[in-house]
Amino acid sequence: MKRKTGRAFMASLIVLPVMALAEADDDTLIINEEIEIVTKAEAPAHLEGVVSEVISGWHFRSDETQALELDDFENPALVYTDQALDTWNAVEGSEGKSCASCHDDVETSMQGVRAVYPKWDEKAGEVQTLSMQINDCREANMGAEPYKYDSAPMAAMEALISLQSRGMPVDVAIDGPAAETWEQGKELYYTRTGQLELSCANCHEQNYGNMIRADHLSQGQINGFPTYRLKNAKLNTVHGRFKGCVRDTRAETYAAGSPEFVALELYVASRGNGLSVEAPAVRN
Ligand code: HEC
Ligand code: HEC
Repeated sequence: MKRKTGRAFMASLIVLPVMALAEADDDTLIINEEIEIVTKAEAPAHLEGVVSEVISGWHFRSDETQALELDDFENPALVYTDQALDTWNAVEGSEGKSCASCHDDVETSMQGVRAVYPKWDEKAGEVQTLSMQINDCREANMGAEPYKYDSAPMAAMEALISLQSRGMPVDVAIDGPAAETWEQGKELYYTRTGQLELSCANCHEQNYGNMIRADHLSQGQINGFPTYRLKNAKLNTVHGRFKGCVRDTRAETYAAGSPEFVALELYVASRGNGLSVEAPAVRN
């Protein structure tokens, strides 16, 4: 009975079932005529038998939205990374330090960092997202207040750090000590939630390429996060996006920064292993 509700919902919303027009397009993304972004890649081994190719959300957006990523002067997200660069150099907290006091030039010290997050942190004994690591540094190393998990300054700092990995392949580890968290994230991905009884997989694995309401469903990849959305004209964090998607199933959602969303982030990131870091991306 409940399952039927979910199916009926999907059937009523998918207005263009499997039309060539709705599939991922064949455009290529080269940023500033310089940085080649891998937006389609062979699926990582753990997705064998599930999907053969992983595809950036960029392919599912309109030409106009896609164009905003081609040139950093057009990309509205870069305003926020400029702001974060000022923050990077600003002294805050009781220790009289800035990020730069310890990490010097962000372009050098943060190269490649985003590509491997979330990752296992030996000291903390848990999988950490980039946001958690940023707050660790603020609290433990600067004596500064942590940022609210999915706040504007956090999103901006995360975008600045992510920018230093742009074009590098996403390569999060899912084995060793991270394996348990990864399994937990995978379970969440396939769990149906809410009145609509829909899982992430129902939309982003089984129906990518199809239209849902007026929206073109992608694989729900996070290689472009934090992402500037035209809809709310700001940078959106991964957990902010997860919250929105869970709410769309009319379910109670987890909090940004919750262990559940950290696990889900690790799992979803690993579904994009092989794509380039594209952050900060632009979406509708
Ligand atoms: C007092 C020195 C100090 C300051 C100030 C500091 N950090 Fe760190 N940071 C470290 C050390 C040491 C590590 C590595 C060990 C660890 O995980 O704590 C680190 C690690 C990191 C990492 C992870 C790098 C990786 O390769 O995984 C990021 C990201 C980071 N810091 C961001 C920041 C940001 C952003 C700020 C400013 C808001 C900042 N840090 C301020 C000392 C500092
Ligand atoms: C009812 C269908 C539906 C469900 C269920 C759903 N989403 Fe989404 N999601 C969407 C739509 C529609 C969009 C916007 C278009 C797109 O990028 O796919 C979206 C966008 C996203 C994006 C942004 C992709 C990008 O390139 O910017 C991510 C990430 C995402 N979803 C993750 C999830 C996760 C994780 C879950 C499970 C907790 C989930 N979604 C559940 C419909 C859904």
